[in-house]
Amino acid sequence: MELLRIRLEKLLKEAVKTIKPDFEDWNRLVLQPATDEKFGDYQTNFAMTASKIFRQPPKMIAESVISAIPANDILEKAEVAGPGFINFFMKNSFVAETVRKTFTEKWDFSHINTDGTVVIDYSSPNIAKPMHVGHLRTTIIGDSIKRIMNFIGYNVVADNHLGDWGTQFGKLIVAYNRWLDKENFEKDPIAELERLYIKFGDEAGKDTDLDELARTELKKVQDGDEKNMALWKKFVEITLAECKKIYDYLGVNFDTYYGESFYHPLMPKVINELVEKGLAVESEGALVVFFDEKENLHPCIVRKKDGAFLYATSDLATIKYKYENYKMNKALYVTDDRQAVHFKQIFNIAERAGWKMEFVHIPFGVLSFNGEILKTRAGNTIKLADLFKEAESKGLSVVEEKNPELPEDEKKKIAKAVGIGALKYSDLSQNRTSNIDFSWEKALSFDGNTAPYLQYSYARVQSIKRKAAEKGVTIDFNSEIRIESGIERSIAASIAKFPECVEKAAELYKPNFIADHIFDLVQKFGTFYNSTPILKAEPEKMQSRLLLAEAVARTIKTGLDLLGIEAPEKM
Ligand code: ARG
Repeated sequence: MELLRIRLEKLLKEAVKTIKPDFEDWNRLVLQPATDEKFGDYQTNFAMTASKIFRQPPKMIAESVISAIPANDILEKAEVAGPGFINFFMKNSFVAETVRKTFTEKWDFSHINTDGTVVIDYSSPNIAKPMHVGHLRTTIIGDSIKRIMNFIGYNVVADNHLGDWGTQFGKLIVAYNRWLDKENFEKDPIAELERLYIKFGDEAGKDTDLDELARTELKKVQDGDEKNMALWKKFVEITLAECKKIYDYLGVNFDTYYGESFYHPLMPKVINELVEKGLAVESEGALVVFFDEKENLHPCIVRKKDGAFLYATSDLATIKYKYENYKMNKALYVTDDRQAVHFKQIFNIAERAGWKMEFVHIPFGVLSFNGEILKTRAGNTIKLADLFKEAESKGLSVVEEKNPELPEDEKKKIAKAVGIGALKYSDLSQNRTSNIDFSWEKALSFDGNTAPYLQYSYARVQSIKRKAAEKGVTIDFNSEIRIESGIERSIAASIAKFPECVEKAAELYKPNFIADHIFDLVQKFGTFYNSTPILKAEPEKMQSRLLLAEAVARTIKTGLDLLGIEAPEKM
């Protein structure tokens, strides 16, 4: 089903064509959602931007466009406003019918170019170190963006660019050789690796030679030393298995785990290509790419004096690999904003190397907990496992309060959906570029823009349906939705315009647009529910209201799903 905006756009194009058959400059025809319901559904400033071409005052153009709109069952009326805006009011029957069609038809986004592949790189932790809350934002935001891009119809590859080749492995090998507790390692390998990692940090503080030793051990891995390679492999397996448990728990999936090590063999070729193309030049023994002055970027080292490759080299190899192995549409990277310069550098180099695709760095701000920023070194990291446990217990307290009579195992499932949902939502409902401060009180509140509030509204509709079934009433999807009040109109319009908010979220890589839309819908639904009888209404009205409630529930569910959040049937 075509988006409302697209339907209206087509009508307007026809109107413009009748008054000016040779008109082609369609970029000027932009429909914006109305800022307030009293101005209708959409607005355009077309008459103002086209005034020069038409050689007429905007108001006159607006009027002739309106009168040239062909007969249709979409528009109730169109009005000239202010200096020449046109406000469009859609028919209630059209909006209602659109809502009803959402039960059976998929939204059509074919006006967006979704050819080729979108690779989205997120989470991408440096493994062999414990995964902590620092990795949470990229994982949650990346997963949501992946879902949003899929919804639009892109072919998305989710890639976890594991940091599986860095200095941490050298440190771990030194610690393993010196301080391994064998028994502990057999019982709980991940705990022992964590202990060794911390132990190394403590010891390196006292003995400065240890860091040098770690570098030597790492170099041995990179040169293919058998014993160190075997250790490296073991560490990767153990820590990756641990990461995968976390992803499973969060409902996050990846298609590829091409870590830095995967690209290592490709790097010499990448370097050669950069040298051949005149991009990388020697400077004090290293290979460096310089930038045009206007880019305002400091030079990027792609190979060190000692021959070692760097983070940038690995990313360049990744891009070349994508360029050669996928028909690329976009390459997306979700990391915190401190990596912005790194990505500017490598995107610039890749473009000059001719590896064509659209590059987007999707940055986000800092996450703090009750005002405290977590740093690994300061020793105040929260382990993800502990955070999840807390989420579940907080979720459980919500369920105990709302629904104490549910069976235990059901309570547990809901507790997880609520707790983890609250955690994800408190991130995704905010503009990702802001720094966010997390607090359980805020995240679990039922009054504000929170996951439990949305989940509860979804569950409420399910409960209405159960009550209806007890009365022998089932929803008849063929019956008509009749808009009989302002609030019903407002709810129906919100449902019918939902895909446009997904479109916007995809365009700007901002899941908070979806959160905002769903929250607004849920508030409207609250007003409707408190003022309008559903099951006590006469049969025809009851069907219409049930259908509207069902459409609200499905929109909430879709919205939450795009944020990677579950919607339990009961709460
Ligand atoms: N491993 C990096 C880190 O933890 C993030 C990698 C992001 N992806 C990339 N292609 N550079 O900071």
